[in-house]
Order: sequence, then structure tokens, then C-alpha cells
Amino acid sequence: MSKTIVVLGTQWGDEGKGKITNYLSEKADYVVRYQGGDNAGHTICFENKTYKLHLLPSGVFNPKVVNILGNGMVVNVRNFLKEIANLKEMGFSCQNLFISDRAQVLFDYHIKLDGLQEQSLGDGKIGTTNKGIGPAYTDKVSRSGIRFSDFINPSFPELFFKKVKEKNLQLSLYQAEKFDYNKLLEEYQKIAEEIRPYVIDSVTMLNEALDEGKKILFEGAQGTLLDIDFGTYPFVTSSNCSAGGVATGTGIGPNKIKEIIGVVKAYNTRVGSGAFVTEFEDDISRQIRKVGNEYGTTTKRPRRIGWFDGVIVNYSRMVNGLTGLAVTLLDVLTGLKTIKVCTGYELNGKILNSVPASIKDFESCRPIYEELPGWDQDITQVKNFEELPENAQRYLNRIEEITKVPVIIFSVGPDQKQTVIRKKLF
Ligand code: GDP
Ligand code: IMO
Ligand code: MG
Repeated sequence: MSKTIVVLGTQWGDEGKGKITNYLSEKADYVVRYQGGDNAGHTICFENKTYKLHLLPSGVFNPKVVNILGNGMVVNVRNFLKEIANLKEMGFSCQNLFISDRAQVLFDYHIKLDGLQEQSLGDGKIGTTNKGIGPAYTDKVSRSGIRFSDFINPSFPELFFKKVKEKNLQLSLYQAEKFDYNKLLEEYQKIAEEIRPYVIDSVTMLNEALDEGKKILFEGAQGTLLDIDFGTYPFVTSSNCSAGGVATGTGIGPNKIKEIIGVVKAYNTRVGSGAFVTEFEDDISRQIRKVGNEYGTTTKRPRRIGWFDGVIVNYSRMVNGLTGLAVTLLDVLTGLKTIKVCTGYELNGKILNSVPASIKDFESCRPIYEELPGWDQDITQVKNFEELPENAQRYLNRIEEITKVPVIIFSVGPDQKQTVIRKKLF
């Protein structure tokens, strides 16, 4: 039986990764985030309460699970401490929680620059979450970021002095207010002391766990179409959300990854800018937004709504090597007379079955739809596939046919209990 499972997004994020990860974490020893930062907003519901996580892995509610923020992440240290404090207030111990010594620290100036860069793009803005993600990864790639190992090192002030000087120069290009180095240093040195106990060599820890046969769950943030390489560039995030990011973002060999579950919303949503082939706006999309509560977890923005897009999920299968799908929010489609699914794109008279690289081409793609009959019965208490109305079964079967990936999990409501698993995973 497989010991490592990746849970990642196959669309533009918000597919329900937090819910599925939390569900599977019941049987896991480790839950590990491998990329992104607090641009993520993962919602988890159990025992009539709803929790929203941004930086902390979704296994954090279970004291037996070790939770790791992997080296591929950019971590806002102020928000990391806030998130822990909130959870502690609600009675969760947050023990066994660690940050990789190779992860990057996200500072106040990254957030400030994110906002200014977006402003300067005007109508062409990415529509970021304004959490400083792009600027933090820019520093990492330009080899001038600050890792956690350096953040808690006595030499931090030296590094930080150079960094603040450089950032103030950048800010002056926008005629923006500069940061006061001494004030900022004092604040961050205090934070560094609070952070110190969390910082570990996660690469060794995880590889030892693998050698001991531990069960490890890797939790993706964002989604494949937001991936810096495979997404709808430039309207993407700045990390590898796809399965390749697991190895580089945690330090395990790619051959150690066994099961790769793609989380798929039964329809499709997007927040932020960028083309969206199956997007539509009418009474049905408004109903879906309302029933599915489609408002950003992190930014509260209304999410754009579209039909299920088989082209992007099929593309996600290729890019990630998906071994199974977890179809979420199936209940939201209840009551629709017919449901559209996109099986291909039409571009300049040609049929496409994959996502074109050029954003201009992607903007010009038109969806080819087929229509499937809907269902009226309430499915929110369904416990197995056979209990689903025939048309809901047919819908899931069609998704399998289009994507060539088995639906091994489906979800019929936000609560952890409203999950049906069709294959033993751990
Ligand atoms: P993530 O970023 O991929 O973890 O997803 P989000 O938490 O941002 O968005 C998913 C939303 O759908 C959250 O509000 C979840 O509580 C909710 N959700 C997840 N699965 C289901 C489901 O099967 N049915 C319904 N109605 N809501 C769900
Ligand atoms: P989860 O993990 C949905 C989107 C933003 C924007 C683009 C770049 O909850 O699925 P960034 O702040 O990362 O530079 O923004 O990516 N975005 C998300 N959309 N879910 C997310 O995370 C997202 N994280 C970033 O809206 O379009
Ligand atoms: Mg989300």
C-alpha cells in the first residue's frame, strides 16, 4: 500500500484541497506543504465548526500528526505566529509543527512591493492575493532571499541591512515610503526568537520518516493552472503547485511519490485575472456562487464561475501524473436541469484537447460542450457511490471518461463527514 500521497489542485485553486487533506490526515503521520505561502486559504469543517488555514498544513488539528512547512514555501512569519495563536485560542495544541530551515522568509517589504507592482500594471494586473508572494519568490530566484536558517542566525542583521537598503531603493522607484531599518530589525529579531523552536532540517526529518515507512501526505496550494510553468502565464502564482514541486519543495526523491490525487471542483472557479474558457455569468452561475459559497477564503473576492473543463483537468493529469481524482462540491450542482461539461476547445477552426502555452491563444479558445442531465435529490448525506442518483453517477463516470483518471473520492458537502472514499489509500 502506498505510503506517500500528494493532494493537489487541478484547476485554478480552491478545489477543496484543505478538506481532502484534512480527511486523509486522520491516518497520516506527516502532512507537508511544499510551495506557496499565505496566498492559500484552505477551509476545513468538522464538529460543526469551520476553520481557515493559510500557512499551516491541514493536519494541524490532529496532535498525532507532524506538520511541516517545506523548503519550497515562502513564509510570512508574522502571520505564521498569528495563525498558531488563533488555533491555540480555539484549543488546538499546534505541537509537532515545523518550518524547513531552507524555506524563505516573507517580509513586510514583499507585501508592499506586491501592492505597488499590481498598481503599476493597471488593467493588466494579475489580481494577486497581495500577500507578497511574487516578490518573495523573486528574491529567492535572484539568490538574495533570506532563509530560515539565516533568519535565526546571529549574522541576520548584516544580511537584513543589505536587503532593506536594496528594497528601499526599489520603493523609491515607486515614490513610496521607505522602511526604517532599525525599527524593522528590532521587530524581526523578536519574531526570530519566537520562530527558532519551529525551525528544523526538514529534508533529513522527512527522508528518515520515509525510511521508517511513515505515512506522508503532501498538501498542494493553488492549482495546476496557477503553476508558474504550467499555468495560464502570466496570470499565475510564482511557485510550482504541480506534482513536480513536491520533490523540489520538500527534498524527497521524485521516485518516493506513490499516489497523486487531483482535487477537482465539480464545476470550475477562478479568482484574480486571466482568461477562463468555460466562464459564464447568468442566473445559474449566481446560484452556484451562492450555494457553493464561492467567495475567496483569503481575499473574500467573489469567485468567477464556469462549467467543468475537461481540457484543463486532462492537462492536469499529464502534468501531474494523476493517479486518482477527488471530485468536490458535487452537491452544489443539485437542482440543475442540465449540466454542461467542456470536452474540447475550438481555436481558429482547430480542435484542441490540451491547454495552449500562449495566453493570447488561450483567450481565443471557445468551449465545446456536451450537456448531461441533472438531478434533484439531496445528495448531502450520501455514503457511497450507489446511493447517488443515477444522473450524478453518470456525471462522475463521464468525468472519469473525459479525464482518464478514476474518481477515488467524492465530496457532497463541506463537512469532513460528507466525503466518500472508493479506494483504500493509507
Ligand atoms: P482549497 O483552497 O482548495 O482548500 O479550497 P477552499 O477552502 O478555498 O474552497 C473550497 C470551499 O468549498 C470551502 O468553502 C469548503 O468548505 C467548501 N467545500 C469543500 N468541499 C465541499 C463540498 O463537497 N460541498 C460543498 N458544498 N462545499 C465544499
Ligand atoms: P488555494 O491554496 C485561488 C491566485 C490569485 C491570482 C494569482 C496570483 O486556496 O487554492 P499570488 O498572490 O499567488 O501572487 O496571486 O493566483 N491565487 C489563488 N487562487 N486559490 C489560491 O490558493 C490562490 N493563491 C493565489 O488570485 O490570480
Ligand atoms: Mg482556497
